[in-house]
Amino acid sequence: MLGHLLHRAGIDSVILENRSQEYVIERVRAGVLEQGTVDLMHESGVGDRLAREGMRHEGIYIAFGGARHRIDMAGLTGGRAITIYGQHEVVKDLIAARVATGRPLYFDVSHVAVDDFEMAAHEGPPASGGAKIRFRHDGAAQEVTCDFIAGCDGSHGICRPSIPPAHLQLYEREYPFAWLGILASAAPSSDELVYALHDRGFALFSMRSTSVTRLYLQVAPNENIDEWSDDRIWSELLVRLRTDDGWEPNVGPILQKGITPMRSFVADPMRYGRLFLAGDAAHIVPPTGAKGLNLAMADVRRLATAIESFYATGTEALLDDYSARGLRRTWRAQRFSWWMTSMLHRQDTGNPFDHRRQLAELEYLVSSNAAMTSLAENYVGIPFD
Ligand code: PHB
Repeated sequence: MLGHLLHRAGIDSVILENRSQEYVIERVRAGVLEQGTVDLMHESGVGDRLAREGMRHEGIYIAFGGARHRIDMAGLTGGRAITIYGQHEVVKDLIAARVATGRPLYFDVSHVAVDDFEMAAHEGPPASGGAKIRFRHDGAAQEVTCDFIAGCDGSHGICRPSIPPAHLQLYEREYPFAWLGILASAAPSSDELVYALHDRGFALFSMRSTSVTRLYLQVAPNENIDEWSDDRIWSELLVRLRTDDGWEPNVGPILQKGITPMRSFVADPMRYGRLFLAGDAAHIVPPTGAKGLNLAMADVRRLATAIESFYATGTEALLDDYSARGLRRTWRAQRFSWWMTSMLHRQDTGNPFDHRRQLAELEYLVSSNAAMTSLAENYVGIPFD
């Protein structure tokens, strides 16, 4: 998206990806787009397939104690909603847009290293082309000299660790559980997502299309996926999700399964000299709030605007503001994702007080317009700045 936005502003870039094109297109990840992400796709001319295939959801269900409770997100937020459209579908559309421009996009690169991105005070504006990226592609060593490096290389990427540790403060929190996720060939039996807390733990009902359901189960962080046969997964999902009105997910062949760890992480600041961190390279949220991809989109939109403004006017004000504004949004999303996670997961604290308090919180949530509005406005996402 950053390459796409910059291209539209007449600014050239080189995009490096260490995975293959097939891998990034096929790897199934989350699929909840905030209104701001959907708007950005449309504004930047890559929203056609999203408009046709995306599923707009104006509400979600919270289930506990055998009942489902609908939260009318659109009604509580003046018409804002989420759209279900897989992250890999977004990636497919962005790759197609990039390929159409003929500008460089390299897959399967290796040995990527960033260099010379520090900026001494005497160096002047960042347009002096000082930064370097080295990598190997098609068996040959290559080097790019550039004004800016965008570290959009995820939490295991090389950009963040390239910043001298003394210049970064890292905040981290682990959660004592993980998600076992499946993709099933089964028509979704609900039009909207269901987040459920059962005595046996959390479960989530989601979807990818009118024929594919996406489901998750809370499991232990060290869970071994080989111990989960398809039958065991389905019986656990049905027990945790089934409600007293007879609702339950449709069962079907499991197409993919995997375990997602749960972690909160923030690197502060999101910039060092000419190197700007965006997305998971700078922050990780647990998946309960569905914020990961949306935070990344907000980052690159802000970064594209800042770079564009720098070349247009020579002022660095927006570049200088990039990190502080991003951290504000990140911490809001961290707070929300942490809250959704703590409210909806079974925590074995050994004290039954905690579970009863959790149920009281859920009861309050679904009986108070104020509480539901608070969830809704964070879930659909605060407007992109
Ligand atoms: C998903 O559809 O993959 C999904 C939905 C909601 C979440 C996380 C993941 O909170």
